[in-house]
Amino acid sequence: MKFFIDTADLAEIREAHSMGILDGVTTNPSLCAKIGVKDFEGHIAKICEIVDGDVSAEVVSTDYAGMMAEGRRLAAIAPNVVVKVPLIKEGIKAIKTFTEEGIKTNCTLCFSSPQALIAAKAGATYISPFIGRLDDISTDGMRLIAEIVEIYGNYGFATEVLAASIRHPLHVVEAAKLGADVATMPLSVIEALLKHPLTDIGLDKFLKDWAKLQAGG
Ligand code: E4P
Repeated sequence: MKFFIDTADLAEIREAHSMGILDGVTTNPSLCAKIGVKDFEGHIAKICEIVDGDVSAEVVSTDYAGMMAEGRRLAAIAPNVVVKVPLIKEGIKAIKTFTEEGIKTNCTLCFSSPQALIAAKAGATYISPFIGRLDDISTDGMRLIAEIVEIYGNYGFATEVLAASIRHPLHVVEAAKLGADVATMPLSVIEALLKHPLTDIGLDKFLKDWAKLQAGG
């Protein structure tokens, strides 16, 4: 499973990258607004200097021509830019053309398996089902991951399932068990994945015993 960090914050991206387990980055307009990004294209360029893997940058146009113009500009920033496109009719048309032009796409805001089927037929590189936002409205987000993995498997679609809107480590574990290709998550979830209280207790005891041994006691 590939790990992407879901943030536009350069310090967080550097921190996750320093762990050596980061495969890419996803951003969205809300994440950019959160840290007050003014020069969006310049900011994406900075992220691409840190990370070799795929970096999703989202278009904000909602019409085909606007999405194409924005997406082509974004894709020209660096070879690892993935154009993130909302799952609406104009977006599907844009994904089809981006794919024909060899531009990678991340089809975002997916909340149902028929939507995911359409995105795969258009040739999206990634489909982003939003697990957490479904859970938030008492709908099983993980069931959507299972359905998409099954459907894509049935037909051999190359579109990768990118589990998004992840809130906690169990989302990652469950998505991994179902065979999602990628999980994108905040730095807090990446860090939570490696924590276990017994590890901390065990290390503390090892170090105390070692110190006692050195003191001759
Ligand atoms: C990533 O591509 C998505 O934009 C993101 O995971 C959405 O997460 P949220 O539901 O926590 O805003």
